Amino acid sequence: MKRPFAELSGTGSYAPPRVMTNDEFSKILDTSDQWIRERTGIRERRISTKEETNACMGKAAALQVLEQNGLTPLDLDAIVYATASPDRLLPSQACDLQAILGAKNAAALDVGAACSGFVYALSVAEGIVAAQQAERVLVVAAEKLTSIMDWSDRTTAVLFGDGAGATLVRPCTGTRGILSSYLKSDGTLAELLYRRGGGASHPPSEELLKDHSYYIKMAGREVFKAAVLSMADACDQALRRAGLTADDIDLLIPHQANIRIIEATAKHAGVPMEKVYVNVDRFGNTSAASIAIALDEAVKTGRLTAGMTVMFCAFGAGFTWASMVVRW
Ligand code: ACO
Repeated sequence: MKRPFAELSGTGSYAPPRVMTNDEFSKILDTSDQWIRERTGIRERRISTKEETNACMGKAAALQVLEQNGLTPLDLDAIVYATASPDRLLPSQACDLQAILGAKNAAALDVGAACSGFVYALSVAEGIVAAQQAERVLVVAAEKLTSIMDWSDRTTAVLFGDGAGATLVRPCTGTRGILSSYLKSDGTLAELLYRRGGGASHPPSEELLKDHSYYIKMAGREVFKAAVLSMADACDQALRRAGLTADDIDLLIPHQANIRIIEATAKHAGVPMEKVYVNVDRFGNTSAASIAIALDEAVKTGRLTAGMTVMFCAFGAGFTWASMVVRW
């Protein structure tokens, strides 16, 4: 087994207080609590207000991590920010967080890997630490997806939610740390899950607002099939690279998109559901933030304790998929 270069230290998260239930959706769309629960496992999700920007949610999660590490924002060497729903397109979300955090000694960059964003960002942070470019790398994953989803489209609107999670990646101090990571993408499948408009090739226009191409579009069934295959590949690769088997995993934290994808992933990996962290019922799909929020909950509720081995696996738009095994 590889000796880890970097470890995760401290966790934080933020969930907007506003809870939206499936029944509320059934009042504005042709859907039902029963359909949403049976197909996705989602009961409710959090909806941010205008004031709860992506950066504000990221900051709330980051401050918890800094406090647990006895650090101030000035101690940070780098900020890696995973998001698919930044507050604005320029500058990066990481630079905006750096400004409101007052982390003026840090380098700041975004990672765009949609729902795989947190695992990608952790891996980038690990690389920065291994290259001895930085010693204290704040990793934040936050989403304000409800501002880029089509509230009139029942096939996507019921799936997403808002929130943020964070951790610190630093050089290893002992045997705990990142044991393996695996990143993969297939850009040829991008159009199964994407936003056509709003970028430089389709800049804002009246047509874009009229045809709703500013919002997330998804071919749900195709994405579902790809997610199951990719998450299975991700688990296999992370275990193989760590030199471990499923029996060595104490907790699996998969991306929280759909309970059926989570169950299929756990079954393929050979990890029983008792060892799988699930909160998709309460948060829906928070894309990049989903594993980060679940990780913070798992730590704070005592599901993940020192010495345990945890595996993350994710899948998202791109397509991207990724996994990581960490000795906690
Ligand atoms: N309420 C009621 N009916 C609905 C709803 C809804 N909210 N949404 C779709 N339907 C209907 C469809 O219109 C369709 O009706 P039809 O048969 O008359 O045409 C029927 O339900 C079945 O639709 P499917 O899309 O085949 O339903 P499916 O069982 O595949 O479930 C779902 C849809 C939940 C979206 C599923 O495909 C899924 O979870 N896909 C993966 C999503 C995912 O993992 N995304 C990850 C990445 S997200 C990111 O990166 C930002």
